[in-house]
Amino acid sequence: MPKILVSGGAGYIGSHTVVELLNVGHEVIIVDNLINSSREAVHRIQQITGKQVALHVFDLQDTHKLDSLFEQNTDIEAVVHFAGLKAVGESVKKPLLYYRTNIDATLSLLEVMEKHEVHKLVFSSSATVYGSAPIPYSESSPAGQGITSPYGQTKYFIEQIVTDAANANPDNQFSILRYFNPIGAHESGLIGEDPLGIPNNLMPFVAQVASGRREKLSIFGNDYQTPDGTCVRDYIHVVDLAKGHVAALEHLQTGTNTFNLGSGKGTSVLELVNAFTDTTGQEVVYEFADRRDGDLPAFYANPRKAADELGWKTEKTIHDMCRDTWNWQSKNPNGYTDNKEI
Ligand code: NAD
Ligand code: UFG
Repeated sequence: MPKILVSGGAGYIGSHTVVELLNVGHEVIIVDNLINSSREAVHRIQQITGKQVALHVFDLQDTHKLDSLFEQNTDIEAVVHFAGLKAVGESVKKPLLYYRTNIDATLSLLEVMEKHEVHKLVFSSSATVYGSAPIPYSESSPAGQGITSPYGQTKYFIEQIVTDAANANPDNQFSILRYFNPIGAHESGLIGEDPLGIPNNLMPFVAQVASGRREKLSIFGNDYQTPDGTCVRDYIHVVDLAKGHVAALEHLQTGTNTFNLGSGKGTSVLELVNAFTDTTGQEVVYEFADRRDGDLPAFYANPRKAADELGWKTEKTIHDMCRDTWNWQSKNPNGYTDNKEI
């Protein structure tokens, strides 16, 4: 089976995707600078799959190291590119860091791929590129207008770079995947989301309140024009999302093809919190707080194109997402750090 290079493969979505790639028989090598992840995640991937994965720890912006890696691995067939910074709030405070890191890392990767004639790429984009487009978002919806953070802009700019690079060589087969809101964890409880410091995203915060690590959840806004006043998102189980990458790799076509990876269903913040308590029996103390800058009231995917062209759709429910998050959280109350010595 072909060898796949996964950039950012020690991270949250990357680690789950590496498991699915190994499960279908691919060989995988990871490049990750571990700025937001842990070696332990790679040990756990090996534990889950019983397979070996080579982890190369360096920054993707280091074009020389990347070039050497491709020289040593002439059988790399395709790249799945997750590596980048992703904290929306931090990107507002440090926009140059985000533009530099996310764009430079991608340019470095594309240059080295071109040099070594590796023509297959799957890139992690985000529903955030739709900005103020009407919902549900389809791949044909206008993108690039009303993006609310520098992080989101990097995704939009990189989409343009990837598209231009694809068009410059008829051998190139690139896919852009626009994720909705990934949550959940592998059912083994061995890998999951391990945010550094105070979580920015809803589900890790909910899980840490349930486990007693945080006192209470602030729900940002309950006066939106939504059924219960709280924001609506399209949550997707990270294992479904990971399988979407396997499907995208199997269906690459000449040029660039863009897909939404979402369920098509909207769930409000309150609905998610209540589902978490119903599923796990854990109370989640919350209070209503002011709206968070940059949040859109509601968005969810039109997932039709991925179903029709990739034969992929989400299978797991909100209940599964809550169960698997809690399984991961309760087995690893402080993320991977507790188990560094294993
Ligand atoms: P993550 O932070 O867990 O994973 C990213 C990985 O990339 C980390 O392991 C980090 O150490 C590594 N990395 C960062 N910069 C690097 C660099 N310059 N060189 C080498 N490695 C580097 O994040 P994630 O949630 O797994 O997200 C993966 C991708 O999906 C990101 O590109 C993110 O923007 C995108 N995405 C995430 C979400 C989400 O809600 N999690 C939504 C839409 C899109
Ligand atoms: N929320 C709270 N309290 C919290 C955290 C979040 O009420 O402590 C609310 C937010 O206001 C929002 C919803 O929960 O209404 C979801 O927030 P997240 O931060 O979990 O997710 P976002 O929809 O803001 O953003 C996520 C990713 C982005 C990505 C975007 C679209 O973090 O990277 O989805 O894919 F761009």
